[in-house]
Formats: sequence, C-alpha cells, structure tokens
Amino acid sequence: MKINANYLNLKDGYLFATVAKKTKEYKAAHPEKEVIRLSIGDVTLPLAPAVISAMHGAVDDLSKKETFKGYGPDFGYESLVNAILGSYARKGVSLAFNEVFVSDGAKSDCGNILDIFDQDNVVMVPDPVYPVYVDTNVMAGRKIVYADATAENGFLPMPDQNVNADLIYLCSPNNPTGAAYSKDQLRAWVDYALERDAVILYDAAYEFFVTDPSLARSIYQVEGAEKCAIELCSFSKTAGFTGVRCGYTIVPNALVRQGTPLNKLWARRQSTKFNGVSYITQTGAAAVFTEEGERQIGESLAYYRKNAQTIANCLDELGIWYTGGKNSPYLWLRCPNGMGSWEFFDYLLENANVVGTPGSGFGKNGEGFFRLTSFGSAESTEEACRRIVALLKKG
Ligand code: MLT
Repeated sequence: MKINANYLNLKDGYLFATVAKKTKEYKAAHPEKEVIRLSIGDVTLPLAPAVISAMHGAVDDLSKKETFKGYGPDFGYESLVNAILGSYARKGVSLAFNEVFVSDGAKSDCGNILDIFDQDNVVMVPDPVYPVYVDTNVMAGRKIVYADATAENGFLPMPDQNVNADLIYLCSPNNPTGAAYSKDQLRAWVDYALERDAVILYDAAYEFFVTDPSLARSIYQVEGAEKCAIELCSFSKTAGFTGVRCGYTIVPNALVRQGTPLNKLWARRQSTKFNGVSYITQTGAAAVFTEEGERQIGESLAYYRKNAQTIANCLDELGIWYTGGKNSPYLWLRCPNGMGSWEFFDYLLENANVVGTPGSGFGKNGEGFFRLTSFGSAESTEEACRRIVALLKKG
C-alpha cells in the first residue's frame, strides 16, 4: 500500500480552515470581544422566497406516492437544465441541453473535472488565485506554471506567448482580487488556447455581480470559446446556496481534443462517480431563474453591492489602494503601512476584532494584500468599517 505522496506537497492547511482556526483561538482567548468576519465569502441573507416556496413544493412531492422521486437524471432535472439554458440565452449564449451538467457546486467540479485530463498536462493558474485550483493539481502531481497578477496589470494577467500551458484556469470576476476581464481581454485568452489546443477552465461563480456590460458574464460570449473552454458556475453566491449546494458545469459539444468530445468524457465520469443533486435542491435552484426568483436574488445582490460600497468608501477615506468591489463581492486592498498579509490579519483581528483573508494565502503575489468580502450583514459591515477607520486613522 502506498499513499498518494503528492498530498505531502500541499501547504499545511487549507487557507480558509487556517483563518477559521486562528479566529476560533482568538475568540476562545477573548470571549468578551465581538469578532466580525469579513473573511470567507459566505452569504448571510436567507434564500429567496421563490426558492423556499419551490423547495416546500418539492418536499410535498416527496411525501406522495404519485409524485415521489428516487434517483434523479444523471445530469440534472429537465426543469433546472431548461432554466439554466434560459439564463444563458438572456446573456446571448445558446447552449444545447446535453452541454449542461448540474452538480453540487463549482468547488467540487473544479477538482473533479481534472479526472478527464492526463497527469502530464501543464497547468497555468494566475497568482494570486482561489487555492482550490492549485491544491487539486498538487494532489494530482501536475506541473503548475503561474501567470503573474499584479497591481501593474490590474490583477488581470494576459497570455504570454512564450509560456505553454495545456490547462488554463481563469476566474472572472476574480476570486480573490475582484478584478474582472472585459470580453476583449477574454478573446486574447481564447485565441491563445485555440492556437495551442489548450483548454480553459473558466470559473464564473461570481458572474451575477457583473453590472458593466463591457465585462464578460460567460466565456461563451466570446466567439470560439465553445471550442476551448469549460465553464463552472454556482448558485452559491448568486442565490445564497453556499449551504444548500448546487452548481452547474458547461462542457460544449464543440470542445474536442484528440478526436474525443470532452462532453462525452465528463458525462461518463459524472454518471459513474456522482449520483446527482437532491430533487429539493434542484427544484429550488430552478426557481432562481424564474422572473420572480431573478427579481428577488437581484435584491440580495444589491444588498451585497451596497456592503461593497461601504467598504470601498472606508478604503477611500483611508487612502488605501484596492481593486474589486464594483463588479465583484470582493475587495482586494494593499495592506497599510507596508504590513505583510498575515501581519495585517493579526493586527486587524487583535485591534479591531475584524477578520479578513490574508492575500498571501492566495499565492506569492498576494503578499502585502488583503481580501475583504461584502457578504456580511449591512450592520456588521458598517461596524467593521467604523473600527477599521478608527484604528488606521489612529495608527
Ligand atoms: C472564498 O471565500 O474564497 C469562497 O467562499 C470559497 C469558496 O467558494 O469555496
């Protein structure tokens, strides 16, 4: 018996687990303090009424012999897949029914999709980046090359013709930096991938935060992307499903490598290793894309956008440089007074009792930066900002 020794090459703890552990230790030592978490991007508003009512209906269906459901279809109930197709059509993207795969979330699919690719592929990830892209490839022992995202390029790296990659991760609006690619910028990535027969793994988990029409909501808004890109989407941030779990992945029929449609491989992988998302969850998810559902989630998104504005105002008042917060729920700021990322984490936790995420946890280029999320309650976001302003104005 041999273990997968690649696991020994992983950093000690998953970033958000380390942040949670440090926060818990601080709270245990200072039970009287009210700690505000603006760290992990976890939603705080309840599910939309349309979603709740659809879920109640689904529970009732399960209570009656005539409407009871056992195993669902491998890739999602027809009603949800059609609702997803409708949502794409409203973005000007036409997809076929079999190109949509419903899953329990973008994080799982980000890792699972690697099953259909050879170990030998070179993977390109931006730095800084959502740690799941790196960790899942380290687990598989793949070679990783980094595309530098820096303040100079607005944290939006563009393709470098001298670097070859087979699998390319892009996330826009970006986690952690909040920066978002325009359709023109994405076109350059699509061209780069097509020239090399590479595949882009495009994480669109935050697309519903985009309001600027020049920015992409889906990579398929760029011509040719259907021949080189897989898109990973989630109901987590769109509709508050972080605890409910539902997402979807698009594998276009036109995406063919070595004579094999990747859609066929992913379908085979999913039908073998995954038994679908619960009927209750999928019924709730389908309600997100009804007229009423979209209006209601629009209100939640507006609430989080207002929090982002509150944080942006606070940073402006302090003269702190940042990206994001406009078409994204994340604000990515330069740590004040030349502090390192973990140093600022400790400073904020201890002196303002506010928790954020250290930028260095997302990669070496994140050192000296810090991420705050707008997913908290309006009250706690305002209070956190008051404390941050008071602390940094004094300091
Ligand atoms: C984050 O805070 O980066 C996200 O919530 C993590 C995730 O979606 O898994």
